[in-house]
Amino acid sequence: MLNLRGMTLFRGLIGTDAQGQLVAALREIVREAPLFHPVTSSGKQMSVRMTSAGRFGWISDRQGYRYSERHPDGLVWPAIPRIALDIWRDVAGTKREPESCLINFYDAGAKMGMHQDRDEADFAQPVVSISLGDEALFRVGNLTRGGKTESVWLSSGDVLVMAGEARLLYHGVDRVKAGSSTLLPRGGRINLTLRVVT
Ligand code: SIN
Ligand code: FE2
Repeated sequence: MLNLRGMTLFRGLIGTDAQGQLVAALREIVREAPLFHPVTSSGKQMSVRMTSAGRFGWISDRQGYRYSERHPDGLVWPAIPRIALDIWRDVAGTKREPESCLINFYDAGAKMGMHQDRDEADFAQPVVSISLGDEALFRVGNLTRGGKTESVWLSSGDVLVMAGEARLLYHGVDRVKAGSSTLLPRGGRINLTLRVVT
């Protein structure tokens, strides 16, 4: 267990078999609720592709970003996989269940700019982030934009919990190291972000 500016990083928490089961469950989800390339309100395409599971999914389009009870295609989101709920219960330290599981797919060139997770109603509820596939250089900053940052490589099976004082720290992903994991046959990285929304 590693403390990253108040975030807790559980290295290798998810074993190889469980990672495989999780990927199989995600394949089913993507079949129902296909990955899409979100655009920002300014029309810029994000480099990750995403979809969601749970009551709420996170979407972004020309109207801006928000939680939505429907996929851009109009359907309700598939259920959050059991195994992801089990991981949440192990590490989240709350009685509440996650209402959203954002599924971000990073190919070799994808990244995620520095941001806060602050679209949820209750910041006392943690954010649990699961890494699968290729390694990612994850950067953590401060409670306001800018200032000194710290970076760490996240590997397949790592679970990061943002809670308490660290719940609203700025964070992002600078890059993904292609070919650093064999979990996904065609490479790339998946990040699952579990959150309580309401
Ligand atoms: C995010 O914070 O949106 C993603 C973090 C990650 O991919 O590890
Ligand atoms: Fe985030």
